[in-house]
Amino acid sequence: MEKVERLTEVLRKLNTPGAAEAVREEARVLLREINPAELSLAEQKLIEEGVDPQDLRHLCAVHLEVLDEQLREVRGRLAPGHVLDTLYREHDEILHFLDLLDSVNERLQKEKEYDPGNPAYDMLRHLAEHLVAAEKHHAREEDVLFPEMEKRGITGPPRIMRLEHNDLRPRKHRLLELAEGVSGMEFARFREELAQLTAYVGFHLRDHIFKENTILYPTALEVIPDEATWAEMKSRCDAIGYCCFTPTH
Ligand SMILES: [Fe+2]
Ligand SMILES: [Fe+2]
Repeated sequence: MEKVERLTEVLRKLNTPGAAEAVREEARVLLREINPAELSLAEQKLIEEGVDPQDLRHLCAVHLEVLDEQLREVRGRLAPGHVLDTLYREHDEILHFLDLLDSVNERLQKEKEYDPGNPAYDMLRHLAEHLVAAEKHHAREEDVLFPEMEKRGITGPPRIMRLEHNDLRPRKHRLLELAEGVSGMEFARFREELAQLTAYVGFHLRDHIFKENTILYPTALEVIPDEATWAEMKSRCDAIGYCCFTPTH
C-alpha cells in the first residue's frame, strides 16, 4: 500500500476513541518514516473524505509526540533570518503574549469595579496591541508563504489557516477595543467579554500556531527546497515588513 494511504488508514484508526496500543505503535513507526508533505496529504485526504478538520485536532498523543520531535529537528535546520525562522520566532512571542493575557484576565476577573490606577489595564492594552500587530506576520504567510505552497499542490492546510486568520482578526480587534474602552463600560460586561475573548483567542490562536509549527511550516520546507526561491520570498517578506515584537538578530 502506498505510504499516504497507510498513514490515512492509521490516522483514521488513531482518531477513534480508545485506540489499541498496537495501533499506537504502528502509528509511531509510520509517522517517523514519513515526511511532513505526506502527512499533510494524508490529513487533506481525511478532510476530503468528510472528516471534520476540527477532529484532526484530537489526533492522539502519539502523533503529537512525533510532531514535536520533527519540530525541533526542522527549527534546528533554519539559519537565523530565514523566512520560516522569523515566523517561528514570532510564534514564540505570540504564545508568550497569550500566557500573559491569561494571567491579566485572571487578575481582572477578581476586580469588582474599574480602577484606573491598576497597571493590569495598561498591560491588557499592550497585549491587545501586540496581538493586533501580528497582522504583518499573517500577511507574510498569506501573501508569500501560502501561494508558494499552493503552487506546489499543497492547498488544504493554507486554506484552513486563512479561514482561521479571518476568524481571529475581528476578535483581536474587539479585545483592543475592550481594553481601550473599559472606563466607559459597565464593569460586569467588560469582565464577561474579556473572559470570553481571552478563552476564545487563547485556545484558537494556540491551536493555529501549533498546526503551523508542526505541519504547515515543515511542509513548506519540504516542498520548497531551493535556496533561490527562499531568498526571493525573503525579499517579498521584507517588503511587507515585520511586527513590533519580531526578534532581531
Ligand atoms: Fe497563520
Ligand atoms: Fe503564523
